[in-house]
Amino acid sequence: MQIIAHRGASGDYPENTLLAMEQAILQGADAIEIDVFAVDSELIVIHDHHLARTTNGSGSIYQHSLAQLQQLDAGSGQRIPTLWQVLQLLALTPLWLNIELKGDNTVAPLLSLLKRAERELQFDVNRLLISSFNHHLLAELNRQSSALKLGALTASLPIDYAAFAHQLQAYSVHCDVSFINQAFVDDAKARGLKVYVYTVDQADDIKRMQQYGVEGIFSNYPAKARQLLNAQP
Ligand code: G3P
Ligand code: MG
Repeated sequence: MQIIAHRGASGDYPENTLLAMEQAILQGADAIEIDVFAVDSELIVIHDHHLARTTNGSGSIYQHSLAQLQQLDAGSGQRIPTLWQVLQLLALTPLWLNIELKGDNTVAPLLSLLKRAERELQFDVNRLLISSFNHHLLAELNRQSSALKLGALTASLPIDYAAFAHQLQAYSVHCDVSFINQAFVDDAKARGLKVYVYTVDQADDIKRMQQYGVEGIFSNYPAKARQLLNAQP
């Protein structure tokens, strides 16, 4: 079962910062998950469109220019990273990256940035998994770039299980630990989908996910999750 550092090693370091991602690499995560919005057509890495929870700013990201946003403190003196900075960091590592699209204006900037990353960083886009709760964005991505791996997010237990992800021609389905069950996992697997579950930090949940046979878990504490996983019989 793979361990995906949720917003980087966000349990111990400021979420979605380069510091949290560097620490996730050091902690032996298999992958990193980040959240992105677009401002001035640049993709920035932040979870909320309001600034107050994770930075010393206030108001919405959309009320600021990119230059203003990059002056803010995102914790421990870290700046809000751009997706480009994250790709530069991960290009030097074997980790894969899950980019979760939060903003509804993210598809065009993402596609142009990935072209640049392939060209300038020799970044293999097979190391990327693009996910969203906004399934319209995933459908749009599939229309424009069918080679990209897509992850369909849900925070529910849909009546027809993973059918929505199959319909989106997704590579994987990403579920909330509060709702996932064996029937969902079996249905997803029968449809050829990989299953990743967020957010899994507790020993009993880690054990349950292993029993379900999911491919990976998003954890805020990748090193601790690895220890707990290794301790399973
Ligand atoms: O991508 C998994 C998880 O991050 C989805 O929820 O709100 O933490 O972005 P959230
Ligand atoms: Mg996320």
